[in-house]
Amino acid sequence: MTAQPETGNLVAHAPAAEQTHSYASPKQREPFSDSALRTQVEKLNQIGIALSSETNLERLLELIVQEARAFTCADAGSLYILDDGILYFHVAQNDTLKRRADTPPGFKPYPLALSKESIAGYVGITGEILNIENVYKLPKTVPYNFNPDFDLRNEYVTRSMLVVPMKDREEQILGVLQLINATGEAGLVVPFQESVEHLVMSLASQAAVAIRNAKLIANIKALFEALIRYSTSAIDARSPHTAGHSRRVAAYSEALASAINDETMGPFRDVFFSTEQLEELSYAAWLHDIGKIGVPEQILDKENKLSAEAMATITTRFDLIKSLRVHGGCDHGSGENNKNSGRHPGTKEAEGAEQEIERELSFISKVNRSPFLSDADLSTLDEIASKTYEDLHGHARPYLTDKEMECLSVKKGNLTDEEYKRIQTHVEHTYNIVRNIPFTKTLKNVPFYSASHHEFLDGTGYPRGLTSDELPIQARILAVADIFDALTAVDRPYRSAMPPSKACQVLNAHAKAGRLDQDIVNLFTEKALYNKT
Ligand SMILES: [Fe+2]
Ligand SMILES: [Fe+2]
Repeated sequence: MTAQPETGNLVAHAPAAEQTHSYASPKQREPFSDSALRTQVEKLNQIGIALSSETNLERLLELIVQEARAFTCADAGSLYILDDGILYFHVAQNDTLKRRADTPPGFKPYPLALSKESIAGYVGITGEILNIENVYKLPKTVPYNFNPDFDLRNEYVTRSMLVVPMKDREEQILGVLQLINATGEAGLVVPFQESVEHLVMSLASQAAVAIRNAKLIANIKALFEALIRYSTSAIDARSPHTAGHSRRVAAYSEALASAINDETMGPFRDVFFSTEQLEELSYAAWLHDIGKIGVPEQILDKENKLSAEAMATITTRFDLIKSLRVHGGCDHGSGENNKNSGRHPGTKEAEGAEQEIERELSFISKVNRSPFLSDADLSTLDEIASKTYEDLHGHARPYLTDKEMECLSVKKGNLTDEEYKRIQTHVEHTYNIVRNIPFTKTLKNVPFYSASHHEFLDGTGYPRGLTSDELPIQARILAVADIFDALTAVDRPYRSAMPPSKACQVLNAHAKAGRLDQDIVNLFTEKALYNKT
C-alpha cells in the first residue's frame, strides 16, 4: 500500500499528464438529490458505527481512510495525526499503485512539520477544508505548495485533492485526512464534489472522536502493560534463579505463536492467532508466575537444604555438645552431674570426642550444601540424628531435630516435599490474582492460560491434572516456553544452566513421554525460536 505524502516545501510544477481542472474555478456541480443525500447520510451513520467499534488505533486509521475513500470514490488517501506540533504520517492507500504489481512502493513515512507551506500542514493549522481541483495549478496567492516528489518517483499523477481537518467535539484538530483523485464514472479523475465536503467533514469528526477514544485505550493499555512488566519482573527478581523469567517466557511464547501464524503447511497450517489472541497469550505469559508473590522468599530462593539460621543453630548446638563432652559441661555451668561429662580436657579420650563432633558437624555442613544425597550418606546422617545429649536442664535432646532431618534427607535438590508443594501453590495464586483483573472479552482466557503452564498433556501436571483435550494450544505453548527457560536460565543449586541444544533434548523427551506437545516442541527446536529473546 502506498500513497503520496507531501511536505509542501517544494514548489509545484506541471506534471506530465494533461490538466483538466483548475483551482477555484466556478463549481458547476450537481448537488445530491434528496434520496442520494439520504443514502449518503445512512452510509455515514454506518461508517460512524464501524469506526466507534474499532479500538485498535492502527486498524482504525486504516479504516478511516478506506471508508472516506469509498465514500468519495477517491483513488488514494493519506492520514496524518497531529501530535505536539508535528504531523505524523500514518496511513497511505493508493489503488492505482496497488494495481501495478511490479511497482515498488516509493514511499517512506516521515513526520511533517506543521507549517502552512504544506497542504496538510495548512489544514492542520487553520482547520479549513481544502477542495483542490488540480494541485499542479495552485494560484500564487495561496500559502501552501504541492510537493510533486512522490508523483515523479512513482509515475503517478495527483490532481484533485480533498483535505479535511479531523476535529473532535471540542473543535481540537487531531489530524488531517487527505483524499486524492476523485474518480468519475468513466474512470477519469474528476474534482471532488462540493456537496460531499460537509459529509466528509462529518466523517472526519466521527473519526476524530474514534481516534481520541482509541488513543485513550492505547494509553491505558500501555500503562497496564508497564504495570504487568514491572510487577512481574520485580517478583522474578526476588530470586537470582528466576530473574527475567517472565519476560523470556513471554518472548518464547510470542515467537512460537508468530511462527505458527507463518506456517502454511504441516500441523499448524490451519492455526492462526489473531492480534487479540496474540495479546492474550502475551499477557498470560507475562503473568504466569505472578502467584509466586504468595510463596515465601526463603523457599523460593533456597540455596541449601537448611536455611542459614537453621545451620547456625546446629553449629551452636554442636559446639555445646562438644563442650559438654570434652569439658563435662563445666564451661556451661552444668557441673560434674552432667552425664556428658567425665572426660578430662587434654586426654586422648577427650580429644577423640572433640574430633568426632567436629567430623559430624562438617559432614552435616557438606550434606547441607550438596544437591544430591547418597544412601550411604543418608545412613550416616541417620546415625548422627539418633544420638542424644543432655541439655543444661538434664533433658535428653537429639543431635538433629525431626525438622532438620527432613530438610537434610532430601535426596535431590534442596526442597522438602512440603516446601515443594508450597511452591506449586503459586499457580493457584496466579489464577486468583489474574482472574481479578477486569480483562475485556477478547482477553477473557488470560487467567486460564496463565494458570495452566504446569499442566501436562498426559494429566501428570499440576494443579488440576488437566489432559490433552482440556489443554488449548496457548497452554501448551506456555508449558514449552516455561520449561525451556527453567532449564536454560542461570544455574540452579542442583544443576548448571543447560545449553539450548541440551534443553531441546529434554523438551523432546517430555514430548515423547506424552507430557508436552510434540508439534510445538518440533517448531521451537527446529526453528531455534529460543534465539528470539
Ligand atoms: Fe510456574
Ligand atoms: Fe514459570
